[in-house]
Amino acid sequence: MTNNEYQQRRQALMDKIGQGTAIFRSAPTAVMHNDVEYPYRQDSDFYYLTGFDEEEAVLVLVPHHEEHQFVLFVQPKDVKKETWTGYRVGVEAAKEKFGADEAYPIEELGKQLPQYLQKADCLYYHFGRDEDFNHRILKWWQRLIAQYPKKGVAPRAIADTNFILHPLRQVKSSQELALIRKAVDIATEAHNYAQKFAQPGRYEYEVQAEIEYIFTKNGAMSPAYPSIVASGENACILHYIENKRQLQENDLLLIDAGCCYEYYNSDITRTFPVSGKFTPEQKIIYELVLEAQIKAIEQVKAGNTYNQFHDTAVRVLVEGLMDLGILQGDIEEIIKEEKYKPYYMHKTGHWLGLDVHDVGGYKMGEDHWQTLQPGNVLTVEPGLYLSPHAKPVEGQPELPERWHGIGVRIEDDVLVTADGNEVLSAAVPKSVEVMESLKE
Ligand code: GLY
Ligand code: MN
Ligand code: MN
Repeated sequence: MTNNEYQQRRQALMDKIGQGTAIFRSAPTAVMHNDVEYPYRQDSDFYYLTGFDEEEAVLVLVPHHEEHQFVLFVQPKDVKKETWTGYRVGVEAAKEKFGADEAYPIEELGKQLPQYLQKADCLYYHFGRDEDFNHRILKWWQRLIAQYPKKGVAPRAIADTNFILHPLRQVKSSQELALIRKAVDIATEAHNYAQKFAQPGRYEYEVQAEIEYIFTKNGAMSPAYPSIVASGENACILHYIENKRQLQENDLLLIDAGCCYEYYNSDITRTFPVSGKFTPEQKIIYELVLEAQIKAIEQVKAGNTYNQFHDTAVRVLVEGLMDLGILQGDIEEIIKEEKYKPYYMHKTGHWLGLDVHDVGGYKMGEDHWQTLQPGNVLTVEPGLYLSPHAKPVEGQPELPERWHGIGVRIEDDVLVTADGNEVLSAAVPKSVEVMESLKE
């Protein structure tokens, strides 16, 4: 990602806040146990605007300031501490390397910040996970308000940065798309290998290990989320991550795994028979989910509203479940009252980008869905989960035993283009013929 692109992003934000000042806080560290921490991961908004990935930092954007529009507060160089926790960029290099107009040690935040806030008409800040910092923001603001009678200037309001920044993050640039494609390509290699590797007798965690080996070997930062390797009935648990069961003859294996490459994510799911052949029941359910997914993807195009592909998937799934007698009654009522939910309880997708469940609204106002536009990236991931423990809603039949334990989800990453869409993860097969030929 070039410095120029970060500059363009900051400018786009500053164009929108005019006389305001925006403050962004780096992500807090997350503790694994006692004094052991998880690998540090920068806050996505902070990273989007700077590419700076160290903790204990603050970004201040001041479009109305004559000299310092882009200000960074960072941890200063400290050889002793760096010996323990790794190199720091430091104050000087924060200017040279990241193009900040001014940079200060983080300890000077309280002293330096007022000069960037006092003349702002609005303070833009998202109250996030760092409670202490949230509190400091309120304190600074109170102080500025108290000084208003004498100084004649002070920010009159605090507004959330999400409403300005997240619509920008929703449309991906070509550089962002290149990184998403890379994350998808690595996950594609992992899925394709895992499908060959999985066979009766192996354990779910062995498959997980092969997948994550391929992620790491290709330079991914981490899995995008805990990998789901769910065989048999485990596939009916949406976020199953125990991955401890031994694969059995005639199992379906649901793998939901994606990786994070340079902060951008992929998120792909495939379901296939571990012994190479679907049972008749598995095949019926698989083909139904596949039809729902293909028809849903057709609805992903610029100008369509966000809900259209979900509604399409639901209708195909409900029609199919009614044909099988799993749902009964009036189709419109089943859809309206969501009587299918014991078997399909999640939405058909989400935005994808720096966050796996990426930022940005799905609705604009209570009754209006977001319209898809070129550069949006989203997942399309219908499924059916026929758990033996599923409780049909009142008036619906019990789930016949022949369907018990079948769980299927198929998930692709899709880019909205000017004239339709591009399925970025199309190189992971999903047709019945190919899924049955994996073991040949
Ligand atoms: N793997 C998380 C999701 O599909 O949303
Ligand atoms: Mn997924
Ligand atoms: Mn997903």
